[in-house]
Amino acid sequence: MRREARLAISLGAAACLSLAALPASAQQGKGTGSPASASYAQRFASLCAACHGANGRSDMPGTPALAGQHSFYAITQLFLFREGRRANEAMTAVAKTMTDQDLRGFSDYIGTLPPVPAPAPATPPDAARMARGQALAQEHRCVMCHGADLSGGQQVARIGQQREDYLQMTLREFKSGKRPGYTQAMGEAVSRIPPEDLDTIAYYVAHFPSAPAKPAGK
Ligand code: HEC
Ligand code: HEC
Repeated sequence: MRREARLAISLGAAACLSLAALPASAQQGKGTGSPASASYAQRFASLCAACHGANGRSDMPGTPALAGQHSFYAITQLFLFREGRRANEAMTAVAKTMTDQDLRGFSDYIGTLPPVPAPAPATPPDAARMARGQALAQEHRCVMCHGADLSGGQQVARIGQQREDYLQMTLREFKSGKRPGYTQAMGEAVSRIPPEDLDTIAYYVAHFPSAPAKPAGK
């Protein structure tokens, strides 16, 4: 599906928070290349890299890779943590004192981090489980919003090759309502998927080959 169509669908998903809720400064243009972005690179290295990795690829359990994530997605999540609408002890502590400028500075910096592939698994992914995960991702329309290559866009997260433990946890939290999301898109997407299928999807997404998969039979 073309990128524009994908975004229009996700933007059209029932919104419980309007985009207008984001700090005004966050909605302005990018500050890339300014002295401010250099200082956020330094602040990321000292405040965030210990958990998220210097290049944005975390090797800490339960901690998402930020490399390749979109700045708009990052700012919505930092905003949700700051406002207490997404809960995590570490991130709530990190975000609660951020100014609007900080939300934007860190998110712009995250948006400059190129995707870093997941480390090669010790054994190749299980082919049958991958095929089942791919079928589930089609059936439940994950690709409709996240794209055929799972790279996301704007406020839709990049999910391809994200850490499996984090994917498993966060998909279950969308399902239980522990993670309400910026919109209801994800809650609705996973509401009817049984937990064991969510785990299969997490396995598939985490092991997603970096090149977009060819449709079956072509
Ligand atoms: C003590 C470890 C720790 C530190 C330090 C930390 N984070 Fe996090 N971060 C996490 C964890 C764990 C999560 C996942 C939270 C959850 O949903 O359970 C997370 C989630 C995030 C997310 C959401 C990612 C996604 O895919 O949804 C963003 C954005 C983020 N952190 C940015 C930052 C920034 C910017 C800093 C530094 C200012 C930072 N983090 C510092 C542990 C940390
Ligand atoms: C209608 C559009 C839509 C559909 C369908 C959809 N998603 Fe999402 N997804 C989103 C949006 C928007 C977000 C950002 C979450 C928020 O609102 O805070 C997201 C976030 C996520 C995240 C969190 C990423 C992170 O780094 O924390 C995961 C994982 C995810 N989606 C996986 C899936 C899977 C798997 C499916 C299929 C079962 C799916 N999504 C279907 C729109 C969608």
